[in-house]
Amino acid sequence: MGFSDLTGDGCLDMIFVHPDFQGLGIASRLLSRVEKEALNLGFTRIYTEASRTARPFFERRGFRVITRQTVEKRGQSLENFRMEKLYTE
Ligand SMILES: CC(C)(COP(=O)(O)OP(=O)(O)OC[C@H]1O[C@@H](n2cnc3c(N)ncnc32)[C@H](O)[C@@H]1OP(=O)(O)O)[C@@H](O)C(=O)NCCC(=O)NCCS
Repeated sequence: MGFSDLTGDGCLDMIFVHPDFQGLGIASRLLSRVEKEALNLGFTRIYTEASRTARPFFERRGFRVITRQTVEKRGQSLENFRMEKLYTE
């Protein structure tokens, strides 16, 4: 139904939920799990590159946009957003 990951430098590279199961809180649960793991590992921030459609999800979960960027994928220009969430004591 869904999956996510976290790289060694705190990048949440992927978070995907199957279209039939979106809007049920699955990504939120995946993100909570990733955040818990990140805190255990001592990370003070997580960052991601969110598509336009994923941006509202990350904003609701406390991420903020650092930069808006344009990336080339298979000859197409796509806009995405580098976003981060800081964990401070
Ligand atoms: C973005 C995505 C991961 C969200 O998954 P999901 O399981 O549907 O998200 P949730 O059900 O946990 O939603 C969490 C919150 O974000 C909001 N949200 C999710 N997707 C949203 C969207 N496209 N627009 C606006 N709000 C959105 C929900 O309303 C919910 O808010 P609430 O908790 O205040 O009610 C999923 O839509 C997806 O896989 N999209 C395609 C892949 C993608 O773009 N991945 C990101 C690349 S890194």
